[in-house]
Amino acid sequence: MSAPSAHPDNTNIDRIHSAAHREKADLVAGSLPAPTWVIFLGFIVAIIAGGQLGVMTGGYQFETSNPFATSIAADPRPKAVGGDAGGDPFQVAMKKGAGGYAVCGGCHQGNGLGIAGQFPPLAGSEWVLGGTERLIRVVQHGLTGAITVKGQNYNTPGGMQAFGAAMSAGDLANVLTYIRNNWGNEATMITKEMVEAVRTRESARTTQWTASELAAFEKENVPGPIPAGPGADAPAAK
Ligand code: HEC
Repeated sequence: MSAPSAHPDNTNIDRIHSAAHREKADLVAGSLPAPTWVIFLGFIVAIIAGGQLGVMTGGYQFETSNPFATSIAADPRPKAVGGDAGGDPFQVAMKKGAGGYAVCGGCHQGNGLGIAGQFPPLAGSEWVLGGTERLIRVVQHGLTGAITVKGQNYNTPGGMQAFGAAMSAGDLANVLTYIRNNWGNEATMITKEMVEAVRTRESARTTQWTASELAAFEKENVPGPIPAGPGADAPAAK
């Protein structure tokens, strides 16, 4: 056998593969930087997905939702009705007042109609629906002597006792709001602040009122904001 012919392809391996080298980069073991288009695609996906997540989880706002926010704004969403803390003040007062009315119901009755000739009605009573100054005074200090309610005369011996010492201003306000808005009655709510104002002004009063003493206050309302319910200063939060 003769010596292999000096074919150029057999003499230089590098030269044989140089064509392939030119066309394709070497594969190197280990990690390679991601191509730029992959990085951009990642950004786009993150932006779209983040936007969707924010919308779906509701009300994401950087100012209030990021953990480094310096001032967290109050949650503007309305609170559940009935909770003591955030419910509609009128509804809360009505609920509490219904419980507090137990101390009145023995005489004025659960239906607010009282007992003829003995205990006057609260349902439809001009004393209940009229000026808040007079109504607060009646329950705070009591009432005695002849009175007229819905055209009927009453003069029960002993009259009605004072409840001011036995009840907190808040409890009294709730009961009064309740009797002003039950059995078909409708009138502005009476707030704790209004009861406190009358208490402070009339702190020297130790005896029951008489109808003639209160005549001047028949239509007088204790000033102060009415937070909710009939005649509220601001529309009730829905
Ligand atoms: C022990 C019985 C008794 C209880 C309890 C009682 N009252 Fe009276 N109330 C009377 C009597 C009697 C009169 C009429 C007083 C008079 O003749 O001067 C009266 C009068 C009134 C009046 C004015 C007249 C009218 O009918 O509108 C109001 C308002 C009133 N009461 C509210 C209340 C509230 C609120 C409570 C509970 C916190 C209460 N009363 C608890 C016996 C009672």
